[in-house]
Amino acid sequence: MRFLASALLGAAIAAQAAVASPIRARSPYVMKEEHYAPREYTKLDRANGESAVHLQIGLKQGNMKELIRHLHEVSDPDHERYGQHLSGDEVDDLVRPKKETSELVEEWLRENGVEDIGYNSAKDWITIHLPIEFAERLLDTEYHNYKHEDGHIIARTTHWSLPRHLHAHIDTIQPTTSFFRGAANAATWVEMAPEVPASYKKPSNGSIAAVCNVTSVTPECFATLYQTKGYHTKASNKNSIGFTNYLGEIPIRPDTELFLKKYRPEAVSSAKTFKQYSIDGGPEQDGPLTLNQSLEDISHEANLDVQAISGISWKTPIFSYSTGGQPPFIPDPATPTNTNEPYLTWVNWLLQQRNIPPIISTSYGEPEQSIPPSYMERVCNQFAMVGARGTTLFFSSGDRGLGGTNTCYTNDGTNTYKFIPDFPASCPYVTTVGATMNFQPEESAYRPSRNVSGVFRDLYASGSGFSDYFDRPAWQDNVVSEYVDNLGDLYDGLYNKDGRAYPDLAAQGLYFAYFWNGTEGTISGTSASTPLTAGIFALVNDALLASGKKQLGFLNPWLYKKGYKGLTDITKGYSHGCNVEGFPVTEGWDPITGFGTPDFPKLVKLAGAHGY
Ligand SMILES: *[C@@H]1O[C@H](CO)[C@@H](O)[C@H](O)[C@H]1NC(C)=O
Ligand SMILES: *[C@@H]1O[C@H](CO)[C@@H](O)[C@H](O)[C@H]1NC(C)=O
Ligand SMILES: *[C@@H]1O[C@H](CO)[C@@H](O)[C@H](O)[C@H]1NC(C)=O
Ligand SMILES: *[C@@H]1O[C@H](CO)[C@@H](O)[C@H](O)[C@H]1NC(C)=O
Ligand SMILES: *[C@@H]1O[C@H](CO)[C@@H](O)[C@H](O)[C@H]1NC(C)=O
Repeated sequence: MRFLASALLGAAIAAQAAVASPIRARSPYVMKEEHYAPREYTKLDRANGESAVHLQIGLKQGNMKELIRHLHEVSDPDHERYGQHLSGDEVDDLVRPKKETSELVEEWLRENGVEDIGYNSAKDWITIHLPIEFAERLLDTEYHNYKHEDGHIIARTTHWSLPRHLHAHIDTIQPTTSFFRGAANAATWVEMAPEVPASYKKPSNGSIAAVCNVTSVTPECFATLYQTKGYHTKASNKNSIGFTNYLGEIPIRPDTELFLKKYRPEAVSSAKTFKQYSIDGGPEQDGPLTLNQSLEDISHEANLDVQAISGISWKTPIFSYSTGGQPPFIPDPATPTNTNEPYLTWVNWLLQQRNIPPIISTSYGEPEQSIPPSYMERVCNQFAMVGARGTTLFFSSGDRGLGGTNTCYTNDGTNTYKFIPDFPASCPYVTTVGATMNFQPEESAYRPSRNVSGVFRDLYASGSGFSDYFDRPAWQDNVVSEYVDNLGDLYDGLYNKDGRAYPDLAAQGLYFAYFWNGTEGTISGTSASTPLTAGIFALVNDALLASGKKQLGFLNPWLYKKGYKGLTDITKGYSHGCNVEGFPVTEGWDPITGFGTPDFPKLVKLAGAHGY
């Protein structure tokens, strides 16, 4: 919407100077939500009242239960509706709020001078643009600037209110209490020399030994290890794969070209042809990194993502989504602070599109505890809506094992020691990817913490956990309860035994060869294993589409029932993190490597593609 800019902005400023002009509401204001600021943030001064904020208002959805029922039916390989994914319009119709909900919220906004109310196609989100001080009056709150340890500043609040009669009609309004900014899950030891893991053994299989170098893994190694080698895509006109970028990250074409020339020459055209989408002012760029960008140390993540995907999934068309709203570094508190909330912006933008790729990879996440439950629930619901339309969302499981070193404490003021799960990895409607290293056998990825020239570098370990918020979904009941039972009382009280456990599967995630700013290096993380896994499943979809079948869609029900047989079980390693050895990697499913790493020919067969 357009806020009636100058007049109302002026009015808002004048109002703040004197007594706030009375907010009109049918019922008194009552606090709707309170949430602690994460420990990594320091509260600074009041946010600049004149800064514009894009408020996203999540209206109570009409029939989310029914949407979830459809999602389960079309994703369960034993159900007669398996593969009959919903259209965008069908999803919209299911979640569209009741008329009363929209009317009451609109009435409240209009009575308070908000004229231009922007709806999405499902009408379950309203977006309004207004000055922060106006938002403060509307939500009876105050925004402050909060500075993250890394210097990044955002404007947020720790509580907000609504007229009582609207509480049942609005699930969430952001940006308010969500400090989610989704750090990239690339453990960037870019500047650190790769080291052969102590447990490394030379692969016994000669073809793997010939192409796999543990301190610089390449597309040739992945194709051999996971056996996509020799597969030629047949349905690239019907298929595609997407990946998301935040925080100013942008995949660099000339770096991708250098990478593909060296490691997958037949795919080199992908460097020029991957399509970029700019959402909410997200960056678009065809040329190399500028000097400033390289000094800001940006695009390691985006380069890794596009190179991991294009190295394995060629000729599948690639879509890159860059969502704006969060410049990477704002060292000066006087500069305008960021107010926007890019994750909702991205998923809501995606749901507006009528054609979306069957696979989307995301390598960003953050501790659940930095995010209010109402936000997590709504974002996770939006992911379910994407799943119902037949898209697999892969998310990385995080790079700090159970939660990093010396950082496993609650935010709630009590500072209680416990394991710290990540979101969106913990959302049941995404497929979460952990990381491995070495080849025969592969084991969970781990590199200990250390001091490098006086600077502490945290450990790298495949992200592992049990959600404190989302219950364990039925499809993972058997394997997860068995794993938890076998743990006995180990780590009792430090994790939620009944929570959604992750990851679901894993792939290589240590020392990926990649190019950045014209130079070759290596980079590690579940940020690497996730786009690689996504790329391999894009090939499974290719085989399915080429045999006239539907793509896999929301993967988990299939994975836990059938697809796990197409994964190589990983049985070695620990989760690490939180100053303990952590959960053990075991035979069968475990919360460090899930069911294991892809075996492409088996996955294709299990998926039901013939002719492979
Ligand atoms: C070695 O690995 C390759 C590629 O994964 C596979 O095709 C071959 O069968 C393996 N050879 C043996 C002896 O296991
Ligand atoms: C393995 O990769 C490293 C870079 O990390 C490189 O120095 C080394 O020469 C490579 N080894 C082989 C056998 O290619
Ligand atoms: C590069 O950064 C400097 C210092 O922050 C700034 O003054 C300059 O305008 C930037 N140049 C470009 C081309 O963005
Ligand atoms: C990036 O590459 C340019 C051109 O080679 C170089 O001048 C610049 O110093 C590099 N930046 C970094 C941070 O290495
Ligand atoms: C890193 O150095 C700091 C300060 O010298 C020390 O307190 C810490 O224990 C060291 N950490 C590791 C992992 O060696």
